Amino acid sequence: MSTPTSVQTDKTERRKLFIKSYGCQMNVYDATRMADVLAPEGYEETTDMAEADLVVLNTCHIRERAAEKVFSELGKVRVLKEERASRGLDMKIAVAGCVAQAEGAEILRRQKAVDLVVGPQSYHRLPDMLRNVQNGVKIETDFPTEDKFDHLVAPARAKVASRGISAFLTIQEGCDKFCTFCVVPYTRGAETSRPIAKILDEARHLVDAGVREITLLGQNVNAFHGLDEKGDVVSLPGLTARLAQIPGLLRLRYMTSHPNDMAQDLIDAHVQQPALMPFLHLPVQSGSDRILRAMNRKHTAKEYCDLIDRFRAIRPDIALSSDFIVGFPGETEEDFQATLDLVQKINFSSSYFFKYSMRPGTPGAEMDDQVPEEVKSERLHRLQVLVDGQRHAYNDASVGKVMPILFEKKGRDPGQIAGKSPYLQAVQVDGPESLIGCVADVLITEALTNSLKGTLVGEVR
Ligand code: SAH
Ligand code: SF4
Ligand code: F3S
Repeated sequence: MSTPTSVQTDKTERRKLFIKSYGCQMNVYDATRMADVLAPEGYEETTDMAEADLVVLNTCHIRERAAEKVFSELGKVRVLKEERASRGLDMKIAVAGCVAQAEGAEILRRQKAVDLVVGPQSYHRLPDMLRNVQNGVKIETDFPTEDKFDHLVAPARAKVASRGISAFLTIQEGCDKFCTFCVVPYTRGAETSRPIAKILDEARHLVDAGVREITLLGQNVNAFHGLDEKGDVVSLPGLTARLAQIPGLLRLRYMTSHPNDMAQDLIDAHVQQPALMPFLHLPVQSGSDRILRAMNRKHTAKEYCDLIDRFRAIRPDIALSSDFIVGFPGETEEDFQATLDLVQKINFSSSYFFKYSMRPGTPGAEMDDQVPEEVKSERLHRLQVLVDGQRHAYNDASVGKVMPILFEKKGRDPGQIAGKSPYLQAVQVDGPESLIGCVADVLITEALTNSLKGTLVGEVR
């Protein structure tokens, strides 16, 4: 197949691209890569859907509500497409992401205005697909044999700079774990790790354009096992050690991790590698061993707690967050109580919680004992109260501390700048825009609902 560099047609024709992403950070990253691969075709991003020649909906299939959103959004896009057509203007509509992968044919059947459907492993084929759409090529959802990353174009330096100083970089994709509630192994395919050299190249390119913090992404990022130039396997701490040597790269984060892949050398790296931030998103999903077994998580609540104890023993300040599902099939009040107990015991700095959503094709959807919606809602509420309380207490406890803050952008009010603490808290201070991209010490003076306020006290680094 042709690569983006071999594109000759319409190179100078300027066109507008509107991309909307749903779901996880990997979709956010994918959106940037789709924009990059379409840039040589003359597509420039716009934030106004009505003026777009191409609209891409980058979708998420994780819960029913996320998937249904796509169809209602498509209805709205169709109206804009018709309006443009009445003015003699074209608008192509592409559906990308995990709903495209899972329900591609259904999308084309249900919404005739859709021109293209492209799965997450095929978005490097977008330019070809757009050229061939008149010939009836509408759907690419096979898992291709070639690696999409080999066919993607590096973004222009100015483009990277415009996206801010904190960037995502996918290093691992797909999942072989098959938790019984989850669609990801079906939508993203088998677990694969990118080669070290490619990741380092991409990271250098980002840092050269001003990026100061990289969050490494993967569905099971801590299972990363990429090959280096010699063909040796490098695990996540080996990769972060190499990335940390890139001059100008100040901070590294990674997500999402699975408890069973949390090796000791990765835990140790949080002490040995200053660039690795003291924050860990480690989903546990439930505190009940019975439910964990039914979810096919392959660990117990105690194993999770022991792992956190080991982490805290060497890095006591590590901030922890998790994902929880309430109302998994068969979850009793006692099981749910075990989840609340685990939350009490661990004390998270923040967490995400979801009502179990039946996903077609997953084993969970076939299970008896589905929990009634009102029971799920009631449990979600109780968990939310507990977790919110922990988040507020965590943020309140930050008041009076001095923390190194990496400034990312202008703040909410004039004269303010906004950044992140090592523990992933949003922090606002009064300060000059020249500090954006720098780390400076800040005394935290106040905890607001979703962010902290502080004053600059230290040297700029
Ligand atoms: N790879 C990560 C996250 C996957 S999806 C992991 O291993 O944890 C992000 C979160 O969505 C999951 O952690 C889970 O809490 C939630 N989720 C996934 N499938 C779901 C479902 N069917 N219903 C409700 N929540 C779900
Ligand atoms: Fe889904 Fe489980 Fe894989 Fe995470 S580990 S992506 S929850 S199947
Ligand atoms: Fe959603 Fe796919 Fe991410 S299902 S959570 S967009 S991997």
